[in-house]
Amino acid sequence: MRNLIGIEDFSTEEIDELIEVSKDIISNKEKYLEKCKGKILATLFFEPSTRTRLSFESAMLSLGGSVLGFSSADSSSTQKGETLADTIKVVSSYSDIIAMRHPKEGAPIVAANNSNVPIINAGDGGHNHPTQTLLDLLTISQEKGRLDNFTVGLCGDLKFGRTVHSLIIALSRYENIKFVLISPKELKIPEYLKQDFLDKKNIEYTETESLEENIDKLDILYMTRVQKERFLNEEEYVRLKDVYILDKQKLEKAKNDLCILHPLPRVNEISTEIDDDPRAAYFRQAEYGKYMRMAIILKLLNIK
Ligand code: NCD
Repeated sequence: MRNLIGIEDFSTEEIDELIEVSKDIISNKEKYLEKCKGKILATLFFEPSTRTRLSFESAMLSLGGSVLGFSSADSSSTQKGETLADTIKVVSSYSDIIAMRHPKEGAPIVAANNSNVPIINAGDGGHNHPTQTLLDLLTISQEKGRLDNFTVGLCGDLKFGRTVHSLIIALSRYENIKFVLISPKELKIPEYLKQDFLDKKNIEYTETESLEENIDKLDILYMTRVQKERFLNEEEYVRLKDVYILDKQKLEKAKNDLCILHPLPRVNEISTEIDDDPRAAYFRQAEYGKYMRMAIILKLLNIK
């Protein structure tokens, strides 16, 4: 039985295959309507979510399966003091596959150790978010037609932004990817990502605080929200939250074929005035999330 805890759980070939299946789903939706008939997806969300939970549920429903779950820890027995291990032991007897989001880093590993159905990590604290990365890769492939030879700017909260961590790990597998890591010094990417992935694989990267001075070099710009819920100090959050705001003026220097991504939700970091710019791909990205999650469910349930 396979789980999806971190993006490392899938080989590059498997990632490419998931992208191909997602594309086939996009063009042949009717072929997939009954693939998961009789199967149940449980969505256990101990942290807020809109896109991830609803796209997982929409994905399972579009495959002919059913869904159950909860959308906050408060509405589950966690509130009464139940351990994650116990919750998972029970829910895995009610469902065929579980997608979970949890504020604690590593919680999906505890879940996997206590489950007899596949566990999908839909975000664990400030750590990883592998299904977001898979949909990010699908989006890049759809928008740019390839996954290699890019200068990728990652901008915002690179410390707590779990989507960025998984994306760096995944993109560092493809040929000739260069990273421009744009963040305030308080929100730089964790050391382990540099040591275990960027340095180890000799990947070219620069760390900078300036979006303006670097935007002209980028093929892809991945904007992120400053992760309010991870700050221990409210004042520090307030000081850092609006450091980067992508607007029309900043975009003037950007390439004509820049691809602008954001996992969403957006707060202030992208001005709505650029939503109609053809380079703004973030709402298409959110839609692709559903198709990628259909492909992930099929893969983990071993359905062809
Ligand atoms: C992201 C997350 O939960 O990490 N949201 C998402 O799943 N699309 C990004 C965020 O919350 O900022």
